Amino acid sequence: MASSVDLVIFGASGDLARTKILPSLKHLARRNGTALRVIGAGRSEHTQSEFRDLVSESSGSAELAAGAEWVRLRYKDPESFTPVKELLDGTKTAIFYLATPPATFSDILSTVGNSGMVTKGDPSRRIVVEKPLGHDLASARRLNSQLAASFDEEQIFRIDHYLAKDTVQNVLALRFSNSLFEPVWNRNLVETIMITAAEEEGIGLRAGYYDHIGAVRDMIQNHVLQLLALVTMEPPTTFDSDYIRRAKRGALRAVLPLDPTQAVRGQYEGYLDEPGVAPDSRRETYAAARVHIDNWRWDGVPIFIRTGKALKRRATEIVIKLRDAPSLRVGGRRQRGIATLIVIRIQPDEGITLRIGAKRPGVRFEMVPAGMRLDYAHLTRTALPDAYENVLAEVLAGGHSAFPGGEEIELSWEIVDPLIKSWEQDGHPEPYPPGSWGPQAADDLLADNGGGRWIVSGDEPGTA
Ligand code: BG6
Repeated sequence: MASSVDLVIFGASGDLARTKILPSLKHLARRNGTALRVIGAGRSEHTQSEFRDLVSESSGSAELAAGAEWVRLRYKDPESFTPVKELLDGTKTAIFYLATPPATFSDILSTVGNSGMVTKGDPSRRIVVEKPLGHDLASARRLNSQLAASFDEEQIFRIDHYLAKDTVQNVLALRFSNSLFEPVWNRNLVETIMITAAEEEGIGLRAGYYDHIGAVRDMIQNHVLQLLALVTMEPPTTFDSDYIRRAKRGALRAVLPLDPTQAVRGQYEGYLDEPGVAPDSRRETYAAARVHIDNWRWDGVPIFIRTGKALKRRATEIVIKLRDAPSLRVGGRRQRGIATLIVIRIQPDEGITLRIGAKRPGVRFEMVPAGMRLDYAHLTRTALPDAYENVLAEVLAGGHSAFPGGEEIELSWEIVDPLIKSWEQDGHPEPYPPGSWGPQAADDLLADNGGGRWIVSGDEPGTA
C-alpha cells in the first residue's frame, strides 16, 4: 500500500543520507496529518531490517523506520527500478532525491525519466539533486537539459543547503526591510567586502568525493557564490522566490570569471596522509580569490572570498567594511580612525554585528571600537532549525525559496571554470599548517589589492 508522500533517496545508506538527510526527517515524519515514507535505493545490499535499523539510528524516528523500504538498484538498469515503481503505485506525492556521487546523476536521471514514474509538468512528482550540479560548465549544462527533458522547473529542487540557513535568508531581511543599510550598500560607501567560509575539520573520510572535487567546486561554486549574490544583488521586486532568483542571476552575471593571477590555492599539511587521498594529489583544500563585479553598484570595489578546511576555527561570515569617516583632532591630536564594519555571522554564533567607533567612557575624548550586536538565537525560543530540515520541509511543501535556479548554477560555473581549469593544468597548492588561516599568499592578495587584511569576528576589536 502506498503512503501519501514517498521520499525515494538514491544513495540512502551513504554518508550524506545518514548524517544530514535522515536526521532532518525526524520532525517531518508526519506533517498536517500526512505520513512520509522513506524508500532507500542504492547499489549496496541491505536487508529490509538492516535499512530500517539505519533509518531508526540516523533519524531517531521509530515511525519513519517502521515504514522504510530498501530497494537495491543498478543505476543504468531500468529493470532494477521496477520495485520502486511498484512501491510508488498510487502514491500522492513522490520525491526523488539524488544523494549519490555526482558521477551517477546522469544515469539515475535518465532511468527515472524513462521509467514512467514521473510526468513532466506534474508538480506531485519532484526531483531533488545534491550539489555540485556538474563538474564544470559543460557538464552542468548537460545535466540541466537532462533535468528539463523530464521535469518542469517547478518540479526541480537543486540543493544548496546554505540557502536554507536562517542567517543566509536574513541577509535579504537585513538589506531590504531596513532603510538604514541599502543607501550605503554600494561603491560610494563600501570600501571592501570579504566573505569567509572556514571550517576547522579536515576532510575526514571523504577523500573519495573531495579529492576529485576540491574547495572551489565544493564550496565556492555554490555556497560562497550564493552568499555573494545575496549580498551584492539589486533589490528584488518581491521576496518571492522567482524574483529573488532573478535578482541573483543579475548579480552573478556581473561577476567576472575568477582570474588565476588573483587567486590563491592551498592544501593543508597532512592532507596527503588522509585515507584515500592520492599520494601526489594537487587538490586544493583552500581557495581565496579577488572578485570583480562589473556593474554600477560595485564597480571598483575590491571583493574577496575564501574557504578552506582545517583552518583555525569554524567561521562563515560576510564582512562589509565602510569607508573611513574623517577622523577629527581633539586638542591637536588626531583621533584613532575606526572603520565601520557590518559583520553578518552566518555561523556559528549566528547574528549581525555593527562595529562602530564609540567614545571610551571617562573624561578624555577618546575613540574605541565597539559592537552593536544582534544574537540571532535571541529571536527565537527554540533552537535554530538545521538547514537540511528547512530544505526538506520546503521540498515537501513544494516551495523554491531555498533553492538556486538552473541558470544561477550555470552562471556560477562560468565564474569558477577558468580558475579550476588553470589549477588543474599546472602548479601546486601552497601548503598551510592545520589550525592556521591558510597560506600567507592569501593575506598578500588582500594587501596588494586594496583589501587591507582579512577580518573575522572575534579577532577584530569590537566584533567579539
Ligand atoms: C558541504 C560541503 O556542501 O558543505 C562540505 O560538501 C562542507 O565539504 C559543508 O563541509 C559545510 O556545510 P556547513 O553547513 O557545515 O557549513
